[in-house]
Parts: sequence; structure tokens; C-alpha cells
Amino acid sequence: MSREKEWYNIKYNKENYFGTLEWLYRHYISSLVSRSGLKAGSSVLDVGCGQGFFSYLFHKHGLKVYGIDISETGIQVAQSHYGFLGIHFVVGDVRAIPLSMKFDCVFTRACSLYNDKEFPKLQEITDGLLSYVRDGGTFVFAYNT
Ligand SMILES: C[S@@+](CC[C@H](N)C(=O)[O-])C[C@H]1O[C@@H](n2cnc3c(N)ncnc32)[C@H](O)[C@@H]1O
Repeated sequence: MSREKEWYNIKYNKENYFGTLEWLYRHYISSLVSRSGLKAGSSVLDVGCGQGFFSYLFHKHGLKVYGIDISETGIQVAQSHYGFLGIHFVVGDVRAIPLSMKFDCVFTRACSLYNDKEFPKLQEITDGLLSYVRDGGTFVFAYNT
């Protein structure tokens, strides 16, 4: 089992592990949606979605959302909180995404795969993510070192 997966499978047993607040982040997602020209029905892939909070904020804009994460616990929690809304949550590794379609937007925020001293060498994985963006679509890569 990978270190990331093991770590988050434990941490995500805590409700809202990151303490995210909707009032704080909804404007961030609203502005991304509007800057990217996403409309109701546009598709978004949230890579490293964790407990599904950002997938949910995209969903609130009427978008068709897919969230993937390597942590089974994260996906279980996401599914139990937001699955009934029609968001598709899938256990998967960013290095082998188990989906075959392209998306209007691929969003990845703080995916901890990138917590690595070899960060500059992770271009191949990032190129892999780009291949999921449809022509003219948007790739949002948010990461703080
Ligand atoms: C710091 S959390 C960020 C969660 C969420 N994106 C957010 O911004 O709140 C990092 C996430 O990346 C996921 N992750 C790490 N390595 C991954 C991989 N190889 N494939 C998919 N997800 C991964 C972890 O399981 C964890 O949910």
C-alpha cells in the first residue's frame, strides 16, 4: 500500500479532516468556474478529491463532477456525504486514472503525490492529467510547496 493511501485512509476517518469551510472556498470555485467558461452540464474531474468537498462545490454550479482519490476511506466519506447528489466518486491513482473520457475541466488541488523532492520530475504524471482535458478545456493545478 502506498504511504499516501495508508496515511489518508486513517486521517479521513475524521469528519471534515481539513476543516474546510464552504463560505470561505465557494468564491474560489465560483471564480474558477466563471474564468473557465464552465456552464451547467460541463464536466469536471477533481483529482485527489479526498473527502469530496471541492467536488461538491463544483456540483453546486450544475456541473457533472467526477472525483477520484487513491484513499478508499476518502472516497467512502465523499460518497456518503455527496454521492446522492449524483457526483461520481471513484477510487483511483492519478498515475492510472480508471476513466476513459475527457473533461471540460481537470482540477487538482494539493494532490499529495506532488509532496516529493522529485517534484520537477513529475512532469510525465502531469502530462497524463492534461490528456484528460478536452480541446479548449481548462486545467487547474493548485499546489503549495
Ligand atoms: C492534501 S489532500 C487534498 C485533498 C483535496 N484535494 C483538498 O484540496 O482538500 C491530498 C489528497 O491527494 C490524494 N492522493 C495522493 N496521492 C494520490 C494519487 N497517487 N492518486 C490519487 N490521489 C492521490 C490523497 O489521498 C489526498 O486525498
